Amino acid sequence: MPSFDTLPSADGLWTDLRDRDGQPFAIAVVDGQIAWTGAPDAVPAAHAAAPRHAGGGALVTPGLVDCHTHLVYGGQRANEFAMRLAGASYEEVARAGGGIVSSVRATRAASEDELFDSASARLRSLLAEGVCAIEIKSGYGLALEHERKQLRVARRLAAAHGVTVRTTFLGAHALPPEYAGRSQDYIDLVCREMLPALHAEGLVDAVDVFCERIAFSLAETEQVFRAAQALSIPVKLHAEQLSDMGGAALAARYGALSCDHIEHLSQDGIDAMAAADTVAVLLPGAYYTLRDTHLPPIAALRAAGVPMAVSTDHNPGTSPALSLLLMANMACTLFRLTVPEALDGITRHAARALGLQDTHGAIAVGRPAHFVLWDLKDAAELAYWFGQRPVRCVVRQGRIADGSV
Ligand code: NIG
Ligand code: FE
Repeated sequence: MPSFDTLPSADGLWTDLRDRDGQPFAIAVVDGQIAWTGAPDAVPAAHAAAPRHAGGGALVTPGLVDCHTHLVYGGQRANEFAMRLAGASYEEVARAGGGIVSSVRATRAASEDELFDSASARLRSLLAEGVCAIEIKSGYGLALEHERKQLRVARRLAAAHGVTVRTTFLGAHALPPEYAGRSQDYIDLVCREMLPALHAEGLVDAVDVFCERIAFSLAETEQVFRAAQALSIPVKLHAEQLSDMGGAALAARYGALSCDHIEHLSQDGIDAMAAADTVAVLLPGAYYTLRDTHLPPIAALRAAGVPMAVSTDHNPGTSPALSLLLMANMACTLFRLTVPEALDGITRHAARALGLQDTHGAIAVGRPAHFVLWDLKDAAELAYWFGQRPVRCVVRQGRIADGSV
């Protein structure tokens, strides 16, 4: 794989583009940063003589942001797919020793290099579709050395692929088998040993918990949040996916960046999220795979002004998805988001869910150059087609990372 640093620079004047509203658009990139944007007939003299990248009328959007993934893991779980097709529920599979814990076994058995190679292959699919920033959670190690291994791989992926990666420590994803019946002991380990150690190694950008009947209780979730707060690390939550646990309101009290899944979110939870400016992350891939029928409360979220992001939730159990555009399509078709909502959901609101709103999710002066040129006439086509990859060119971290003009 060629080193990211050797890819061509995107510096220069990008002309003959169209923005989301179909208006003619141009972008000047200087030293990898966006130095100017505007109409092609109003280019300031300072940029007029810069080398040109002719866009050929391509639609341009900000680089996409995938704000919820479990990208680093060993093995795969196609056998559980078959079990569910034969009638078992996700909870039944988990209770029968499958589910997250089976990925834990495979992840613990894998070396750091093996995890890096398998995650790299998956990451390449997302990047080729225009993803410029991604969140990667731990949570398939569930022991210090194995959680460390996952998070170190996430950091290596960022450097090797020239992509912004936000790491999230999800030590409280499931109870590891060696702690069966000792949930409190495990949460103590997460809070007192694992989180402080991984934080000291610079591996933790945020902390997440799976708050659910088959995972951790509200009280256990709060204990993890308190430990994160003591280290000034932002929190987020897998909340109300299978039942209403009151997790979203708790997370909002801790100023959570986001609450994710939220199919069973209550009005109290929505109000708390609105007050705390917490992003709602919608994960239609998991909803689809689990053949869920309980829709997240989209209309109430919209009415309360809660920003809605859309993500792949890539993981081997409930969402083996490697297309963020397909998730935008599903968010429209299954959840009834409007197309502009879905596009905001994979750009600016997703950036906010990661605390990256000042650098990602918009094409604006002073930001690093992350943008995508598409072979499309109309921005609505981004959510309309599925199974296609209409990317012409990806500019990531100021370099022409995929395709060309
Ligand atoms: O986001 N909900 C919990 N965690 C993952 C599923 C993980 C798994 O089944 O491996 C999710 O859907
Ligand atoms: Fe998840």
